[in-house]
Amino acid sequence: MTGGAALTGRVRVTGAKNSALKLMAAALLAPGRTTIDEVPDILDVAIMSEVLRRLGCGVDYQRTPGGGGGGRVLIDVPEQPSTETDYDLVRKMRASISVLGPLVARCGSARVALPGGDAIGSRGLDMHIAGLERLGATIVSEHGFLVATAPRLSGTSIWLDFPSVGATENLVMAAVLAEGTTVIDNAAREPEIVDLCTMLCAMGARIDGPGTSTITVEGVEALAPVSYATVPDRIVAGTWAIGAVMTRGDVVIERAVAGHLAVALDKLADAGATVEALPDGIHVAMTERPRCVDIVTLPFPGFPTDLQPMAVALAAVSTGTALITENVFEGRFMFVNELVRLGAAVRIDGHHAVVRGRERLSSAPVVATDIRAGAGLILAGLVSDGVTEVQEVHHVDRGYPDFVQQLQGLGAQVRRTQRDG
Ligand code: UD1
Repeated sequence: MTGGAALTGRVRVTGAKNSALKLMAAALLAPGRTTIDEVPDILDVAIMSEVLRRLGCGVDYQRTPGGGGGGRVLIDVPEQPSTETDYDLVRKMRASISVLGPLVARCGSARVALPGGDAIGSRGLDMHIAGLERLGATIVSEHGFLVATAPRLSGTSIWLDFPSVGATENLVMAAVLAEGTTVIDNAAREPEIVDLCTMLCAMGARIDGPGTSTITVEGVEALAPVSYATVPDRIVAGTWAIGAVMTRGDVVIERAVAGHLAVALDKLADAGATVEALPDGIHVAMTERPRCVDIVTLPFPGFPTDLQPMAVALAAVSTGTALITENVFEGRFMFVNELVRLGAAVRIDGHHAVVRGRERLSSAPVVATDIRAGAGLILAGLVSDGVTEVQEVHHVDRGYPDFVQQLQGLGAQVRRTQRDG
């Protein structure tokens, strides 16, 4: 891409990757056809579709014309799904492990390969495992698989050491079919958790407290399939918002929910941007060089770790110095080495990054190391002198539908030169 253009115009955000993948896994909880709308047309959705197919489901994806890269997925779940998910899929996408909870709950057993996933830290599964064991499952690890068995799960109380998104989701999806009441304390509060619980309730589950730290689930005998639409993607929306500020542009992000990005938008306002919540979106505009703002990533409602690379990229071209603290994933500053190749002045000390803003960055070939790092590097390329080439951009395809086309629609000088990976 050639840096220099301001992002200007309107962009539509479809459903959240991090919700849609779990909604698709939740479909396993009820035999019959589940229909999910606003599902992003991204690689991770294709992988989750394959996970479900191998479990015996029929999965059909239909793209919605003009839908901002979103579409409808139809999932036909058999009476008796198979229960094994192989390493070739889990290795490509860690979120494949979200079939564990629904399979144990509905089928009484599951064999799910242990994941690899993004290169952003150790990402343990201890809370998923301990929670399922509390619910009465027996879990062993053998030959690279987690093997879980439980004739019928039974309600219990679970205290999570950390409000893990994935563990909260897996445990809620297991508890909905358990016998009795389950209370999950220190639960994650992300909008994607609320979305999953809303769909589960529409399927017949009884869940109280999603969006708070205590989720109470009263188990039911069976669930029924539903039609449901995914919550808008706050991380994609936040990426556009930060991109607008970095490039001193003016963007309306259609369908974005300001309340899901409150801290991030507040930071952009502190940086000097005009930020307006619209009835169906967010308007972000910037006329001057942004000011550096300190940022601390935390579980929701804190600043999202998935926007941290974009925040570092923003600070790299702002006035002053920013301290960016990463509290959720160790290793998430690895992409900074690539940003430094673009001339960013960043010093890492443990989970802190000190970023001294520069007037401009300078183009170079860089390598995307994961989805969000890739998006951060692309934003950095938009404010670099000359032509920046971002390699391994297939990582970005995992999370951003039509990213290049949408950037072009906003006036960026960007093109895809070859499909790698
Ligand atoms: C999800 C999102 C990811 C986002 C993250 C935090 C999906 C597909 N991915 O990931 O984009 O960055 O939430 O908002 O939804 N941990 C453990 N043991 C566990 C579980 C987690 O130690 O059993 C640790 C992880 O290593 C990490 C932290 O807890 O350091 C947060 O992880 P978690 O909230 O579970 O993230 P994911 O669900 O993997």
